Amino acid sequence: MTRSGAAGAPWWRGAVIYQIYVRSFADSDGDGVGDLAGIRSRLPYARELGVDAIWLNPFYPSPQADAGYDVTDHREVDPVLGSLDDLDALVRDAHASGLRVLIDLVPNHTSSEHAWFRAALAAAPGGPERARYLFREGRGPGGDRPPNDWGSNFGGRAWTRVTEPDGTPGQWYLHLFAPEQPDLDWTNGEVRAEFDSILRFWLDRGVDGFRIDVAHGLAKDPEMRDLAGNFAHSEPAAEGHPHWDRDEVHDVYRGWRRVSDAYPGERTFVAEVWVQDPERLALYLRPDELHTAFSFGLLLAPWDAAPMRTAIDTSIGALAEVGASPTWVLSNHDVVRHVTRYGGGELGRDRARAAALLMLALPGGAYVYQGEELGLPEVTELPDGVRRDPAFLRTGGADRGRDGCRVPMPWSGPRPPFGFGPSGESWLPQPEDWVELTVEQQAADPSSTLALYRDALALRRELPALGDGQQAWMEAGPDLLAFRREPGFVCVVNFGDEPAELARELLPDGARVVLASRPVAPGGRIPGATAVWYARD
Ligand code: BGC
Ligand code: MG
Repeated sequence: MTRSGAAGAPWWRGAVIYQIYVRSFADSDGDGVGDLAGIRSRLPYARELGVDAIWLNPFYPSPQADAGYDVTDHREVDPVLGSLDDLDALVRDAHASGLRVLIDLVPNHTSSEHAWFRAALAAAPGGPERARYLFREGRGPGGDRPPNDWGSNFGGRAWTRVTEPDGTPGQWYLHLFAPEQPDLDWTNGEVRAEFDSILRFWLDRGVDGFRIDVAHGLAKDPEMRDLAGNFAHSEPAAEGHPHWDRDEVHDVYRGWRRVSDAYPGERTFVAEVWVQDPERLALYLRPDELHTAFSFGLLLAPWDAAPMRTAIDTSIGALAEVGASPTWVLSNHDVVRHVTRYGGGELGRDRARAAALLMLALPGGAYVYQGEELGLPEVTELPDGVRRDPAFLRTGGADRGRDGCRVPMPWSGPRPPFGFGPSGESWLPQPEDWVELTVEQQAADPSSTLALYRDALALRRELPALGDGQQAWMEAGPDLLAFRREPGFVCVVNFGDEPAELARELLPDGARVVLASRPVAPGGRIPGATAVWYARD
């Protein structure tokens, strides 16, 4: 397998991992929904891009109340997306071409259609079936008010009242996300044993690791105290919060680490943890817990040198305390694509290209969300009727939701669905003007965003300075971020709109431009919204 970063270091410390949103990557059977066989047929694309691994969003059987994050069976594949055989074939082919495979594990909640939740609804209050979830009595006369004031991440309250089997209004259950996603009780031994077994099921099948969904959400205040205005329910977590980032959660991950360590081949976890304080994030990455966690600092920072530098410093600093390596990310399936976040249009794309070179030059690993290598923007003009995101549906559209970053990939051809599948269908419509952005168009154009990502990832493999390791800032000017990595590498980003001069003495002797996100004349100034990589021959 290929590696990035320091020789002998585990692969994940410097890996670039390509996030594949299964429903939107490639459709093999013409139903308009991407699937595992489609991904398998496009593995050469990921390979040529130059990534080390792929991460697949959930492919499990699901009623799709939250795009597959509502799982009914953690050991199966949704028939719309394929079969276990398809998954095995995908993993086999990926390994044969030098790509590792991470899958998405959803431990905070199940689908309300999961056998366990159906059993919980059919059973009497107080029994073992309900103890796997968080059922509580309501407040007030008749128990008709929710047990506390917690809110759902998708809008509305986090509690739904059930009708008991005898037809009377009954207990309430907790769902930090949609009502179709009841939260599991992680103090319950059966829940813990079940997830250990699910991990082993997939590790035995050969997957290389897991992305842990809502990893900071599993532990809840046993007393279920009100938020009472002390904490915003959807804000990144803070110490003392009744359901985000509680200390008890670490025990779960120490157990999972023991499970994964029993397998050969550097299996790995990457945690989705939303916390404000990088010191709190670092706790998840202690040597006996998880290997990596997304550092969301870059994704949250505006296009501006100072906040970007702060985000980088705080992540690197906090993680160094526990010996962990940062894992950078600019976009994923939950946020507005960064071309659009940075202002959209040509300027947004220039900035996004520069941000990519910044991210890929930083110490540590990085995630690339499918389509960012094409410079895809957020699709803001989707008609309301095609939107599926519960965040949109549960807020009556006040929250536009996440469908706009989940539009299927444009591969080739003159019109939608641009080679996404063999039929004219795609589950979300692509804009006509993506004709300019298809893989086919960009592969033929050395100045395209796709070519930039391919060149950057190829250089990451060649240059020993990149991947895992250290960086040191250089003071280059107000709108510039510049840092050096050894041996002999410098990355400079101009966040301003005007060209900027870079003092020659900041560059290593004999260094030349090896890659730039916009054309740079030799020895010339760095244009606005541009990143440049310098290295010695
Ligand atoms: C996933 C989301 C999902 C939520 C609930 C996340 O953070 O990335 O897409 O809606 O967890 O499972
Ligand atoms: Mg399909």
